[in-house]
Amino acid sequence: MIPHIEKKNGHPVLMVQDKPMILIAGEVHNSDSSSPAYMEGIWNIAKELGMNTLLLPAPWDLIEPEEGSFDFSIPRALIDQARARDMRIVFLWFGSWKNAECMYAPAWVKQDLKRFPRAQIEKGKNKADRQASPTIPVKIAYTTLSYLGKETVRADAKAFAAFMGFLKDYDEGEQTVVAVQVENETGLLGAAREVSDEADAIFAAPVPGDFAAYMRTHTDTMTEEIRAAVLSGKPAGSWQEVFGAAAEELFSAYHVASFVNAVAAAGKAVYPLPMAANCWLDKGGRPGTYPTGGPVSKVHEVWDFCAPNIDVYCPDIYVPQFKAVCDEFTRRGGALFIPESATHSYCAPRLVYTLGHYHAMCYSPFGFDDIGKPFTAIQGFLFGMDVSDPALKTPQSAAEYAAFGRILREMTPMLAAAYGTDRLQAVSAETDPAIPGPGGNPFAAVPPAMDFGAFRLSVRFQSPMNPRSDGACLCLKLSDTECWVVGSACGLSFSSADPAKPNLDLLQVEEGRFEDGAWIPGRRLNGDETASLSLEGPAVLHIRFFTYE
Ligand code: DGJ
Repeated sequence: MIPHIEKKNGHPVLMVQDKPMILIAGEVHNSDSSSPAYMEGIWNIAKELGMNTLLLPAPWDLIEPEEGSFDFSIPRALIDQARARDMRIVFLWFGSWKNAECMYAPAWVKQDLKRFPRAQIEKGKNKADRQASPTIPVKIAYTTLSYLGKETVRADAKAFAAFMGFLKDYDEGEQTVVAVQVENETGLLGAAREVSDEADAIFAAPVPGDFAAYMRTHTDTMTEEIRAAVLSGKPAGSWQEVFGAAAEELFSAYHVASFVNAVAAAGKAVYPLPMAANCWLDKGGRPGTYPTGGPVSKVHEVWDFCAPNIDVYCPDIYVPQFKAVCDEFTRRGGALFIPESATHSYCAPRLVYTLGHYHAMCYSPFGFDDIGKPFTAIQGFLFGMDVSDPALKTPQSAAEYAAFGRILREMTPMLAAAYGTDRLQAVSAETDPAIPGPGGNPFAAVPPAMDFGAFRLSVRFQSPMNPRSDGACLCLKLSDTECWVVGSACGLSFSSADPAKPNLDLLQVEEGRFEDGAWIPGRRLNGDETASLSLEGPAVLHIRFFTYE
C-alpha cells in the first residue's frame, strides 16, 4: 500500500511500505530546497543528527512558472538525494498561502488581480497596513490572496494535482515521499475576516444550514470560547446571528478550510498520500493578530467539517508553552505532528518527550542546520526567549541531538509497536517539574514518576546533583521486570508498585547502542554507577529487575 495512516492500539500511526514509521524529522529553511546543490550539505547534517525524514518546500511558483507548464526537476532531484541516503521526505506545498501571505504564488497569479483577487482587510484595498505583531506597534503593508477567489482555488488545486501526479509516477514504487503538507500557515492577518463587498454579502447571508447544525452538535470538544459562542447563537441566520462573538473567525475558518480542502481533494484524487495542515498559533491573541482561519486548535471542529481531506492539524511551536500546545492539539485524540519547533536546548528533550508521551507521528525542528549555533537576532525574536528560563536562550547541542536522534531512529519498530499503549511513557524537566519539598528543601522534592502497573520509575531532574534543566527520560516497558530507558540529565529510581512484593532490586543495567536494529551491549553497570543510577549525556539502558516480599 502507499503511505497511509492506520490506527494501532487505537492510536493513529503513519505506515510506510506497510511498516510503522515515526518521523524523526527536520524542516529546512524556506529557500534551501530551491537548490539541490545547496541541499547536499543539508542532507548530510540531517543524517548526522539522526533524522530519517526532511520536510521540504515544494513552491508553486517554481513548479508552475507559466500557467499549465510544469517543472518537477527540483522535487525529482530532492527525491533522488533522499533515496541515496535512505531518507524520506514530507513535501510542503507552498501554494496560495505561505505564512498568511502569498509569496510563493507564481508571477502569473500575483499579477492578475482580477482573476486572482487579493484579500481586503480594508475595504477596496489590495494592500493595507496591519500592525506588525501584538507587541510591536509598527505598521507593515500586507497583502495576500482572497480565500473567496474561485479561480485561485481552481488554479492552486490544478497545480497541486499535477504535483501529486508527478509524485505518483515517480515515487509510488519507492515511497520516498510519505506525506504532504497542503499550504503553509494559512489564514488572514490584520483583520478577523475579509471585508470586500463580496465578503460582506456572504457574511450577512445565512450560514450554510449543514454547517450551523454540525457546529451545534459538536460542542463537546470545543474550546470554552467557541462553545459559548455557538450555544448562545441562533440555530439559523447570518454569521453574526449564529456565531455571535466568534462569527468573524469562524467565517474565515470556514472559507480557508474549504479552500485548503479543495486543493487537498484534487491532490488526493490523483495520489492519496496523508495530508497535513500546519498553523501559526493564536497565542491567546485577538483574531487578526495571528493568521485567522488557519487550523488553530479552537477552530478544529470547523476544519473537521470543511476539510475532510486533511488528516492532521499541525502546530508550529516557537512558544515556551510547549506542553499546553501539544495538549490542545491532541485533546480530541488526533496524532501529534510537529512540523516546526525551535532549536533551543529543549529541542532534543522535546523529541524524546513527544515520542514517549504523545506517541508523536512527527517531530521536526525548523532550520535544524542551526542546531548548535548561537542564535541570530531573528531567532531570538522568533523563539520568544523567556528570560526566566536559561534553556530557552541556549542553543541545542548538536552532539546531544544526534545521539538521541540515532537512538530513537534505531528503536522505531519497538517504539511504534508500543504507541497507543501505556508501555511507552516519558517525562521531561520542562514539562514535569518536581513538586517542591517542605520548606523548599531540594532533597525532599517529589520527582515526576511513570507508572507501569507492576513498577514505577521516578526521574530526578534538576537537583543539587544535577543542575541541568533540560533533562528528559523515556521508558519502554518490555515486561513487569524489564525495560529500555532513554534519557539524559536525570537520575532514575525504580520501585515496586505491587503491594504483595514491595521491594525491588536491580538485576542488570546494561549500556550500549543499536546498530542496524541490533543491540550492541557496552558496559554492565553496577556498584557506584547503579548506587545512584543516573544519565548524564544522552544514553540508552537495558534494565532488568525483580520484586520480592
Ligand atoms: C513559520 C513558517 O511556517 C516557516 O516557513 C518559517 O517561515 C518560520 N515560521 C520562520 O522562520
